[in-house]
Amino acid sequence: MLSPRLSENKWKLAHQFGTIYGVEEARAMLEVLEDWAPTCGEKVREFEEKFAAHEGAKHAIAANSWVGAAHLVAIVLDIKPGEEIIVPAITFHASANIFVREGAKIVFAESDPRTFNLDPEKLEEKITPKTKAIIAVHMCGQPCDMDPILEVAKKHGLIVIQDAAHAPGAEYHGKKLGEMGEFVIYSFQQCKNMSTLGEGGMVVTNDDEAAEKMRKLRSHGGGEYPGINSRMTDVQGAVGLVQLERLDRHNEVRRRLAYYLNELLKDVEGMTIPYEIPDVKHVYHLYNTLADEKTIGMTKDKFIEALWEKEGIKAITQYHPTVNCLPAYKAMGHGEGECPVSEETASKIVTLPLCPRFTNSDMEELVEGIKRVIGRR
Ligand SMILES: Cc1ncc(COP(=O)(O)O)c(C=O)c1O
Repeated sequence: MLSPRLSENKWKLAHQFGTIYGVEEARAMLEVLEDWAPTCGEKVREFEEKFAAHEGAKHAIAANSWVGAAHLVAIVLDIKPGEEIIVPAITFHASANIFVREGAKIVFAESDPRTFNLDPEKLEEKITPKTKAIIAVHMCGQPCDMDPILEVAKKHGLIVIQDAAHAPGAEYHGKKLGEMGEFVIYSFQQCKNMSTLGEGGMVVTNDDEAAEKMRKLRSHGGGEYPGINSRMTDVQGAVGLVQLERLDRHNEVRRRLAYYLNELLKDVEGMTIPYEIPDVKHVYHLYNTLADEKTIGMTKDKFIEALWEKEGIKAITQYHPTVNCLPAYKAMGHGEGECPVSEETASKIVTLPLCPRFTNSDMEELVEGIKRVIGRR
């Protein structure tokens, strides 16, 4: 195993780098270099095939990032001015940005405060005659409750795009993500559960026609369409193949550490541990807790600051403000009060460090530090 930079704070590194590379990746890269390091060649094709099979889909198209892959989807959707796309309020703003750039109007929907995922019960009220697609973001690595989402989509003739940036390898009711909806988009950026040298993405689909079109669009459109360049290099593809082999093992480590953290935190009042809906495989890209200001005696920001200053433990705050409250979206007429449940939830989210490089004793050290900071010992 190639060791992380040991001189750096391990808790900080856990937020920045989500995977482990080994000599196998280095060897795979060398092999491609000896072959003059082509772009989007044999290794990428093999990576696509194996990734599609792993995620239960017919086709996979590798790209240079999640956004690069989503751009292909957005072009295929052929969004007309004024058409609407539903996006959960709690997500990374990339889930919405590319669709805005392609001319869509974003309609924000509430996220469930227990899972941070799109609340299926509050979805239908957001649908209008202009709705085109729903973005189901599998936050933190937990699949959305897909059955009711797919049912609403079917009833209204809408396309379902899964944002699986956090969730390669996740499962819902025994199904892989690639078995549901029209498109699933993944990210291999450096902090994700698997990475292709810091950047990378993939879209999987069972739609033959869309797959063929996206393959062309990725490489300038082949003269048939005004395309883009969203290609992945073979060096990345070769690394992706090794990372894919490690993925299930790394996900298992994440899951084991998360369940151990749940045990350690369950008696710590004021820190709500993650909630899993029944019959899913949550791959714990992130371990999000909700900090209750009154019970822990400080705001979430103060708590994060104190944990760092007193204990040297890095927790972070993410998804606050919700996307509808970001300046870019306020400038489009969105803002506070649009998704009040999500806005309130996001104000309490504290992401604790978790990555496959950790062990149970790291989790014990983390919770001891938390307890000292909030005066529980
Ligand atoms: C939910 C979500 N969607 C999309 C993205 C964008 O991924 P990329 O940086 O590969 O474009 C991210 C990145 O962090 C994300 O968290």
